[in-house]
Amino acid sequence: MTTFDLDGWVARSGALDLTGIDWTEVPRHPLPAQAVRTLLYMQDIESHTIVYLRSLLATRAIDDPEVSTFLACWLYEETFHGIALARFLEAAGHAVPPRPKPHGQESLSQWLEARATALLSRAWGNFCAVHMTWGAINELTTLTGYLRLKTVAGHPVLSDLLERIMRDESRHFFFYYRQAEERLRRPAAAGVARFLVDHFWGPVGSGVGVPGELELMAKYLFDGEEGQIAIRKVDETIRRLPGFATVQLLETWMSRHANGGRNGHSHR
Ligand SMILES: [Fe+2]
Ligand SMILES: [Fe+2]
Repeated sequence: MTTFDLDGWVARSGALDLTGIDWTEVPRHPLPAQAVRTLLYMQDIESHTIVYLRSLLATRAIDDPEVSTFLACWLYEETFHGIALARFLEAAGHAVPPRPKPHGQESLSQWLEARATALLSRAWGNFCAVHMTWGAINELTTLTGYLRLKTVAGHPVLSDLLERIMRDESRHFFFYYRQAEERLRRPAAAGVARFLVDHFWGPVGSGVGVPGELELMAKYLFDGEEGQIAIRKVDETIRRLPGFATVQLLETWMSRHANGGRNGHSHR
């Protein structure tokens, strides 16, 4: 992985800079109800990055020094995105409700998921390629989602905040994508990654949270011609990865789940 400048990447990592954002301006501009819902959804995802990371930490991902350094910076930055979005929502009069605490121990499904991830990572050496590919797709959809939210919500303070967050998301995407490009050059890794994406990929947050919420948000963000173009751009970018030339991603997901598809179901 000699082509990637990790030191340069780390040097640009840090907590989201909120300097100059005038929070008192927030309630002075209209904020569509759909934008509030979208922000609540995204805030929840951002602030629970540490939960997603938990099962990863039991895997080989942290054996790779580049990946482990990246993950530490990534978690830090995503956590600040969650804090910033909560602050915006509060300023807009929609404080984020406290998340219900899980009862006692983690659920059986969470435990199984963590064990399965750990087992898989030990069983084959291509885990990192899968993880990096997955990360690239998710960061790109997140980045695109924020870009669309900025456009459709049309709120000046939100636009400023989202632009700052998007700068981080595009750096996250860049890291995952470069790593995936390298690691997918091995046909075996590309085969496994492609199989798993084909069978199990869904947008971040699929299968968790209120049923139908993700679909509603997708409809709001990717409505119309511009939305279609944004979706196609995501898919085209991922199709440039080795072994992914014919992959069906967001466009297919949208037509199944958000554009009137009634019998679709999400999986993580
Ligand atoms: Fe983020
Ligand atoms: Fe990110």
